[in-house]
Amino acid sequence: MKFDQAAFEGTTPQCAGKVVYQRQVESTNDVAKKAVNAGLASSGSIYLAEFQSAGRGRGGNRWVCREGEGLLFSLVVEPDVDVLFWNRMSLAVGLALVNTIKDFGLNVTMKWPNDIYLGDKKLGGILIEKVNDFLIVGVGLNVNVQSFPDEIAETATSISTRIGEVVDREELLSKIVHRIYQCGSMIGESFGSLIEQVMESFYLSNQMVRMTVDGKEILGEVLGLDENGYLMLKETGNDGKLMKIHQASEIKKLSLS
Ligand code: BTN
Repeated sequence: MKFDQAAFEGTTPQCAGKVVYQRQVESTNDVAKKAVNAGLASSGSIYLAEFQSAGRGRGGNRWVCREGEGLLFSLVVEPDVDVLFWNRMSLAVGLALVNTIKDFGLNVTMKWPNDIYLGDKKLGGILIEKVNDFLIVGVGLNVNVQSFPDEIAETATSISTRIGEVVDREELLSKIVHRIYQCGSMIGESFGSLIEQVMESFYLSNQMVRMTVDGKEILGEVLGLDENGYLMLKETGNDGKLMKIHQASEIKKLSLS
């Protein structure tokens, strides 16, 4: 069913700004970026589409979702904290998504730094990009999926697949935007509390993982997040050196069997 913009605007939290809905775009992040560069967007503007022909994820990955089956949107945010803290926003948005999806009774977790998981399957992803004084918070969430494209059929899931019911996307988006503002307000002084909450639903807790950091493959056990939101890893070998990871390739969980 087509996204009902009027219904969404009826439930939109006050923090949201103008809503620009399009049936098809290449990438909502690109639409939002162009609007910012043209001076047409302000903090709170939301760009959403039913389908993206060139949806992007981190590290050059694609984001694929059939028309009308997900939420694909980009929210323009002007954080009111020092630019040094802006990289914390991905954890805030992740927590906002986790808290919202938990309301469906689902045991959803966050995979550092920007993925949302149900069990071992990916439910959503976050791509945040900086343009001038703004962050473009791009979110892709599998909501009412009937069948996944082949390339993600084995690795993805959706809310409706798990709860067996069609989800009201307008109401869901409204709750998510509200929570992004709530959690986003914690990236300054309250960041410690945000980290604590993220750790309660953390996909990688105490897991053995493999990742590539600065071109080098690293194996280790995830200990958690430090006070800045960096991943703490006890490296396998290398005398169990404690590493703080700022950026890594996609992290793979290693099975222990
Ligand atoms: C990831 O999994 O690496 C992040 C995926 C982010 C996808 C969303 S969909 C809306 C917005 N527009 C894009 O092109 N990407 C983000």
